[in-house]
Amino acid sequence: MLPSSRSRSQPRAGMDYLDTRRKRHFAGKIFTAAFLTVVCIFILKHSPGFSGTSVFSHHEQGVTHVLVTGGAGYIGSHASLRLLKDSYRVTIVDNLSRGNIGAIKILQELFPEPGRLQFIFADLGDAKVVDQIFAQNAFDAVMHFAAVAYVGESTLEPLRYYHNITANTLIILEAMAKHRVKTLIYSSTCATYGEPEKMPITEKTPQNPINPYGKAKKMAEDMILDFSKNANMAVMILRYFNVIGSDPEGRLGEAPRPELREHGRISGACFDAARGIISGLKVKGADYPTQDGTCVRDYIDVTDLVDAHVKALDNARPENVGIYNVGTGKGRSVKEFVEACKKATGVDIKVDYLERRPGDYAEVYSDPSKIYQELNWTAKYTNLEESLKVAWKWQKSHRNGYGTSSS
Ligand SMILES: NC(=O)c1ccc[n+]([C@@H]2O[C@H](COP(=O)([O-])OP(=O)(O)OC[C@H]3O[C@@H](n4cnc5c(N)ncnc54)[C@H](O)[C@@H]3O)[C@@H](O)[C@H]2O)c1
Repeated sequence: MLPSSRSRSQPRAGMDYLDTRRKRHFAGKIFTAAFLTVVCIFILKHSPGFSGTSVFSHHEQGVTHVLVTGGAGYIGSHASLRLLKDSYRVTIVDNLSRGNIGAIKILQELFPEPGRLQFIFADLGDAKVVDQIFAQNAFDAVMHFAAVAYVGESTLEPLRYYHNITANTLIILEAMAKHRVKTLIYSSTCATYGEPEKMPITEKTPQNPINPYGKAKKMAEDMILDFSKNANMAVMILRYFNVIGSDPEGRLGEAPRPELREHGRISGACFDAARGIISGLKVKGADYPTQDGTCVRDYIDVTDLVDAHVKALDNARPENVGIYNVGTGKGRSVKEFVEACKKATGVDIKVDYLERRPGDYAEVYSDPSKIYQELNWTAKYTNLEESLKVAWKWQKSHRNGYGTSSS
């Protein structure tokens, strides 16, 4: 009995000893696992990609979180830069169909601190994805820039324009309604006025758009206005005139895809001609009923335009709708523009005058007095040649847009 009891008791004593060591070992493992779990949760919580728990998913007192759609594009990137400079929290959503990841990278380099800027690659035409983005992020306001935005292209591909501009704005509004985001700053356009008989254009000028681009934007405006009536919304609709220029500090510029050149805007065409990418400028229409026969437009510098957005956001109030023209109030002919471009670039650009382009209108310039009176905004960068010089400097040092930068 003894040996067996000894043999039973000895191993038992040994087991007791082992148990204590295992218990300690086990407790240590649990402690390490718990510690690692806490560390992981902390890291994940502070990583922008973590759904539902990132800094971007919580409202923070004193911080205004703005969703910038189309923030990889020309105007959206400049607006994001200004918002970030002014300490807003920014989420950019863009499908990069027309924008540049290079612009996003520059913004990320300028504002690397956590909780300042996040980029979400997504298509606003996908209602489920848009809903998810709103569910996972606590937006205080939306600046809706994303759009296809070429008058000529809209006459060739009207359905694309109604889909991208009108239908996608509806998706944004539905997400805003569901997730109770109450402030919207909407990028509209003077193209919603069409070709009014009387100049300058005031906000009371009747809207009779004459191309699918202007019509799609007008429909989007109408939806926003109808929705805002019973939704306690703060809405600002900004109708821009023709946007030119770029960041005076040379960090961002305008870099549309090469394939869009044929639909492109006049400043891009001037610069392409000055760089020899195209043989010269083709001005469409020299028989308009204007002073020199070419179209007259109101050119607004992008720096002034984004300033108007910040003022609009600051002044947006619930149950209030503000509709504003954003222009200089001065019309300049295409001929004048070309002369300014020749001076800004120092190149004697060759100009050919062709037939009119379908969907174009003769003369458009704004009366910007309402935005001055109500938001204390006025255009400051009104020297065409100076604005073009700033833009040309960026163009010259970015021969392939955001692809490469070379001096
Ligand atoms: N540039 C002008 O002169 C001018 C004048 C009046 C109004 N606007 C308006 O200003 C806004 C911005 O214009 P811009 O000149 O910067 O154009 P842009 O083409 O440079 O930028 C538009 C951005 O929207 C993105 N986008 C387009 N469709 C999208 C989608 N379905 N989902 C996600 N992202 C999408 C593009 O990738 C691009 O980055 C547009 O709404 C345009 O109608 C521009």
